[in-house]
Amino acid sequence: MHHDLRNAQASDHERVIAVVDAWWGRNVADMLPKLFFKHFENTSFIAEQHGQLTGFLIGFLSQSRTNEAYIHFVGVHPEQRKHGLARTLYERFFEVARDASRSTVGCVTSPYNQRSIAFHRALGFEIVPGDSIEDGVSVHSNYDGKGVARVQFRRDLTL
Ligand SMILES: CC(C)(COP(=O)(O)OP(=O)(O)OC[C@H]1O[C@@H](n2cnc3c(N)ncnc32)[C@H](O)[C@@H]1OP(=O)(O)O)[C@@H](O)C(=O)NCCC(=O)NCCS
Repeated sequence: MHHDLRNAQASDHERVIAVVDAWWGRNVADMLPKLFFKHFENTSFIAEQHGQLTGFLIGFLSQSRTNEAYIHFVGVHPEQRKHGLARTLYERFFEVARDASRSTVGCVTSPYNQRSIAFHRALGFEIVPGDSIEDGVSVHSNYDGKGVARVQFRRDLTL
């Protein structure tokens, strides 16, 4: 089914954080402060059907790594999953990143988020080798603080 896609706005913040904990099944709202909606409008997207939020992507063009783009968060309504919406959101982001001359896109996820790992592999991301293995996946230990390992993904945008 068709989803309307548009750039995110600061005014979307409230309705997105109102649903994310339920969509993820854990507390993630704290990882989505308003600044992302306020300062990364051009590289963040909202998907809707009949005005109802069905998905979103929060990304940006790296300031310090000028050939890189970064995806911070993506979420799809549980009843709308597995129909290609997250893929569509990523492809929209890739287009914007390519237009801004970015050659790679990166993101990180938790080692225990198997769904996210499967999704990123399906989207052509490779895992950047880390320094240890958790749940059979190469991770960067202490990446986001002591004891907080992350799986690091990278995708070439020139392919
Ligand atoms: C991960 C998530 C964004 C995927 O959204 P989606 O719209 O269902 O994904 P798509 O339908 O676009 O799937 C794209 C590809 O990923 C694969 N994929 C998606 N969900 C998957 C799952 N649960 N297990 C295995 N593969 C999966 C699909 O098979 C598809 O591959 P294909 O096109 O080769 O068939 C969604 O499940 C979600 O919102 N999860 C909770 C939030 C989360 O964990 N976000 C990621 C970390 S920030």
